[in-house]
Amino acid sequence: MVDKIKKTSGLIPVKKSHIEFYNKFPLYYISKDGEAVLFKKGGDEIKEGILEKEMPSRFFIREEDENSVTNTLLSVLNIKMAKAISSKGIKTIKQCLCQIVEEALENPLEGILSTLPETIEILFYNAKKTPELLDALTSINSNSPKIIEHSVNVLTLTAQYCFFKKYSDDELRKFGLCALLHDVGTSYIDKKIIEKNDQLTEEEFKELKTHTTRGYKKIKSHSVFDKSVAMTALEHHELLDGSGYPSGTKNISFEAQVIGLIDSYEPLKYSNKSFREALTPYNALQIIKKDVLQGKYNKQVFIDLCSCWIK
Ligand SMILES: [Fe+2]
Ligand SMILES: [Fe+2]
Repeated sequence: MVDKIKKTSGLIPVKKSHIEFYNKFPLYYISKDGEAVLFKKGGDEIKEGILEKEMPSRFFIREEDENSVTNTLLSVLNIKMAKAISSKGIKTIKQCLCQIVEEALENPLEGILSTLPETIEILFYNAKKTPELLDALTSINSNSPKIIEHSVNVLTLTAQYCFFKKYSDDELRKFGLCALLHDVGTSYIDKKIIEKNDQLTEEEFKELKTHTTRGYKKIKSHSVFDKSVAMTALEHHELLDGSGYPSGTKNISFEAQVIGLIDSYEPLKYSNKSFREALTPYNALQIIKKDVLQGKYNKQVFIDLCSCWIK
């Protein structure tokens, strides 16, 4: 959520669309002569209509408030998502999920990562009661960047797999985090590379591959999570025949094998933002089947996924 380049004397720019969540915090703007001016004190509410009348072009928060601001935002988004679920507002649920993942991927601080298990719990608890929620979520597009939409789709597809396997709540939470954070390392990579639709150059692909090791290091430093979450970030592009990256190992954790397969299915099925047409589940799985037969993916996981997705 922060613009890391433009920092003005201890202030960080915030998205205008988010400031309704910032009642607790002081907000600043920059005057014509470049000075930071207090727009409102911490605790003052932003009244409806005020933004249209007195509209500085950009708002800022204090650097020291950054972590608490983001936590507040994510808690509000979790509540908004829970409300949308109870009123079956699929579009709002997807938007909230995308916003939550966007915050986590753009700026993976400790505090932000800590709110993700709650997000997963809210979604999975409700999806268990109404499984059609997941189908609806994967069939709707949001206007989020490609990597955000991808992570949310991988999460919902993973939830379908977990329900099919009748996993326990602990397993559900663990797989949910593995899915949501498998590409967290992309937050350290140039956005132009991440969002590029054409073929990457050799140099760009080399850079992209580092999202695995970078994501692993980031999650590992957040010791609260099960170690499979970090291992999935590291190994989701490894293949069982040793032809994957970053290390070419054949010894891949089970969670990374599952998320890796779902990860390769997702862009085939949901390629609405790329140059390729989206495929039906059957056709997408036919493409992956070739790799399964070559020994790149776990056969049983593939069979289970076929049972989940081809109805
Ligand atoms: Fe990845
Ligand atoms: Fe991915």
